[in-house]
Amino acid sequence: MESNQKVVIVTGSSSGIGLESALLLGRNGYTTYATMRSPEKDTSIKAAIQKEGLPIRVIQLDVNDDSSVMNAVDHVISEAGRIDVLINNAGYSLGGALEDLSTEEIKSQFETNLFGLMRVTQAVLPTMRKQRSGRIINISSGIFGFPGLSVYVSTKFAVEGLSESIAYELEPFRIKVILIEPGFVKTNFAHAMVVAKKAQDPASPYSKMMQKINASASELIKNASEAELVANIILDAASNPSPRLRYLAGKDVESWAAGKKNMDELEFFNMIKRLTA
Ligand SMILES: NC(=O)c1ccc[n+]([C@@H]2O[C@H](COP(=O)([O-])OP(=O)(O)OC[C@H]3O[C@@H](n4cnc5c(N)ncnc54)[C@H](OP(=O)(O)O)[C@@H]3O)[C@@H](O)[C@H]2O)c1
Repeated sequence: MESNQKVVIVTGSSSGIGLESALLLGRNGYTTYATMRSPEKDTSIKAAIQKEGLPIRVIQLDVNDDSSVMNAVDHVISEAGRIDVLINNAGYSLGGALEDLSTEEIKSQFETNLFGLMRVTQAVLPTMRKQRSGRIINISSGIFGFPGLSVYVSTKFAVEGLSESIAYELEPFRIKVILIEPGFVKTNFAHAMVVAKKAQDPASPYSKMMQKINASASELIKNASEAELVANIILDAASNPSPRLRYLAGKDVESWAAGKKNMDELEFFNMIKRLTA
């Protein structure tokens, strides 16, 4: 590896934002470790790597598994000798009103979206700290509450709090922390949603509400951004000499963020209520 080649780890690269980011970073000369929990799955990334001769390696990493994370990070360090950028992208959503969620379902959601992100971040930090350089890019979305996704949103609000806080801790080591806030993005995300068991019961008191939310979400997804748009913003965040803490990704999220900033709380509440009714 050339010493000026930056090394990046992307989690959840088997589809969507992770896949597009890994490809874009590879195409831009980053030595890219496209990690996924099941690399044996046939994904388009392997074909692209071969066809285009990209500097991308596909390795196994399940963010829920301590030894998988340690093995992956050790592999990168022993092969590439450094880690410049970590993109914490792996995640999924848990659908259902809070009352319909089991503790097990809630814990699993936090395990992947928050504890998984913490686990991978902790694994790369000693290397970045020794280098006195690095970037942690966290894929969030937590800028407002959304019905039927309360625990998913909670994990992302936690990622926001974590990121804002560690930005202070890591600044003395010249490690930057960045939050990417996508709106709706056309990926496998909706399909991969785990719908809570009780929420699937038509007798749930939230059943009608969930049906309306799902119908509205299907409409919102029609105008969703492409994953390439988010990948381009991630590339900018990885390469910009002076990255910001937060990047919005998508016209929809830009308008909601403006609403949250400019409207009073009741006005904003009513806007989201209308969107999901
Ligand atoms: N799409 C949206 O509208 C949207 C909006 C805001 C934020 N986001 C965030 O963007 C990120 C990427 O989502 P996406 O939209 O690209 O959805 P996606 O296409 O479903 O991709 C999610 C990725 O996460 C991986 N993953 C899930 N659990 C994992 C685990 N335990 N270990 C390693 N990888 C795991 C999946 O791997 P498998 O293939 O093995 O399941 C997949 O590669 C997520 O953090 C999501 O919360 C998405």
